[in-house]
Amino acid sequence: MPSIFLFSLLAGLCLSPTSNASPATARDNDHLPQPIVPSKDPWYTAPHGYEEASPGSILRIRPAPGNLTAVIGSNCSAAYNILYRTTNSYLQPAFAVTTVFIPNMNIAKINYTTPLLSYQIPYSTADLDASPSYTLSAGGYPDIPVALGQGWIVNVPDFEGPLASLSLSITEGLAVVDSIRSVLSYQPFHLSPKTTRTALWGYSGGSIATTFALEFQPTYAPELTLHGAALGGLLTSFISANPALDGTGFAGNLPAIYLGLTSQSSSARQFLLSSLHPNNASEFLAAENMSYYQDLTYYQNQNISSYFINLTAFLLHPEIHQLTKNNWEIGWHGIPQVPLFVYKAIHDELVYVQYTDAMVDRWCEVGLDVRYERNTVGGHLAEYYNGVDRSRQFLTWVLQGTTEGEVVPYASGCSIANVTYGSDTSPI
Ligand SMILES: *[C@@H]1O[C@H](CO)[C@@H](O)[C@H](O)[C@H]1NC(C)=O
Ligand SMILES: *[C@@H]1O[C@H](CO)[C@@H](O)[C@H](O)[C@H]1NC(C)=O
Ligand SMILES: *[C@@H]1O[C@H](CO)[C@@H](O)[C@H](O)[C@H]1NC(C)=O
Ligand SMILES: *[C@@H]1O[C@H](CO)[C@@H](O)[C@H](O)[C@H]1NC(C)=O
Ligand SMILES: *[C@@H]1O[C@H](CO)[C@@H](O)[C@H](O)[C@H]1NC(C)=O
Ligand SMILES: *[C@@H]1O[C@H](CO)[C@@H](O)[C@H](O)[C@H]1NC(C)=O
Ligand SMILES: *[C@@H]1O[C@H](CO)[C@@H](O)[C@H](O)[C@H]1NC(C)=O
Ligand SMILES: *[C@@H]1O[C@H](CO)[C@@H](O)[C@H](O)[C@H]1NC(C)=O
Repeated sequence: MPSIFLFSLLAGLCLSPTSNASPATARDNDHLPQPIVPSKDPWYTAPHGYEEASPGSILRIRPAPGNLTAVIGSNCSAAYNILYRTTNSYLQPAFAVTTVFIPNMNIAKINYTTPLLSYQIPYSTADLDASPSYTLSAGGYPDIPVALGQGWIVNVPDFEGPLASLSLSITEGLAVVDSIRSVLSYQPFHLSPKTTRTALWGYSGGSIATTFALEFQPTYAPELTLHGAALGGLLTSFISANPALDGTGFAGNLPAIYLGLTSQSSSARQFLLSSLHPNNASEFLAAENMSYYQDLTYYQNQNISSYFINLTAFLLHPEIHQLTKNNWEIGWHGIPQVPLFVYKAIHDELVYVQYTDAMVDRWCEVGLDVRYERNTVGGHLAEYYNGVDRSRQFLTWVLQGTTEGEVVPYASGCSIANVTYGSDTSPI
């Protein structure tokens, strides 16, 4: 196993296993007037000895800086950042940050019957400063206020962690699980890992994090009871996706994926650097400071493989190959234990629908309750919007049950349908 390279964020931190990680207390609630980018915000560092805390432990908590509750609107009464202990893709101690939104109710009234939605935003970038805990202040996530309006607590984890480990899906999944643990364990919320109705929702990059969370939860967090998950635009595999992305409008995903893949190991990162043509390596590495949409614009239709001296040789290198094998495919780390709503555009150009068909078939074979809807309308970006209403309906069923007389297609067994919903174009 390669050594763990904790990049600049952790530089200077005492990594000896002293055990002085203190539990979160009110005095840690250093309210900041305006958000600072995570790479410059000292709050985004782990306390000394955090490795000794158990996964999901709260290391720090603060009211989310800035005017986040105002941005989310009247359905939100409070927002917190929690910095918690988790585990990286080499199964070593790590930390991550989540943002928790409280619906418009007195916090003292929250109890074990208050539902929890974990909402995984597909921020898909190698830039730490594009993490949701920071970018949420700019608004643009209407699903959050609507979920809050239903009385749900909403958890929005920065599941790529402090090294922006896009495509290290083990890290991502474990960070989702541990963010849920941290929220459920925060005493003032009076929630319960056994009884709180808990659902997960993720589209695209968010579906990877969500699916890995569902696969690891039974062994990694057996004390936790999850109740359902909506998985949209499922990225079953980065491997099958890659050849299709090069030279396309989605090419910009690739530099971010390779940077994220090598973010937790100095030897892997060194090998990436030595695999690039020196004359334009800096153009490739610029993705480190680009958000998802900046990546797509900057590298649009570029031949990303041409930055590599030999991309095939890079991917076949033993350490890189091991990383991709462990992190780039769903379906190998465990079996989700919850009912699933899976939705996918038949014309998804990012990862083809037949990969999702095959994954759903396997889940059905082992007896999962799956409702799978293949949409005849739209592509990958359009389905993000076309799937919202149906996801909400499913999540409402998971978190609140059915209203009298309501017939739902999710209740049990495996059902697959071709559907026709929404519009061909995405609003973005
Ligand atoms: C939040 O703060 C920013 C910058 O200070 C401001 O531009 C924005 O209008 C504020 N939003 C709300 C909803 O108050
Ligand atoms: C418990 O939580 C539910 C749902 O969030 C809320 O409606 C109810 O008022 C709470 N009960 C108490 C006793 O505060
Ligand atoms: C609050 O939530 C309700 C119900 O989910 C939704 O209809 C409404 O648009 C939300 N309001 C705001 C300001 O987001
Ligand atoms: C990204 O930005 C940081 C400072 O904001 C800078 O130190 C770093 O060199 C930049 N990375 C690249 C690859 O340009
Ligand atoms: C991209 O570049 C590689 C290496 O130079 C080349 O083999 C490949 O054919 C190119 N692909 C496209 C789509 O231009
Ligand atoms: C990067 O440089 C190599 C070697 O000069 C060249 O073949 C390749 O086309 C360049 N790629 C891009 C995207 O500029
Ligand atoms: C690239 O690497 C692969 C795998 O090592 C090798 O088979 C292939 O010949 C290399 N291509 C070139 C152009 O050197
Ligand atoms: C969905 O449509 C495809 C053809 O596009 C067909 O092969 C498949 O049987 C249909 N599935 C269902 C469940 O109707």
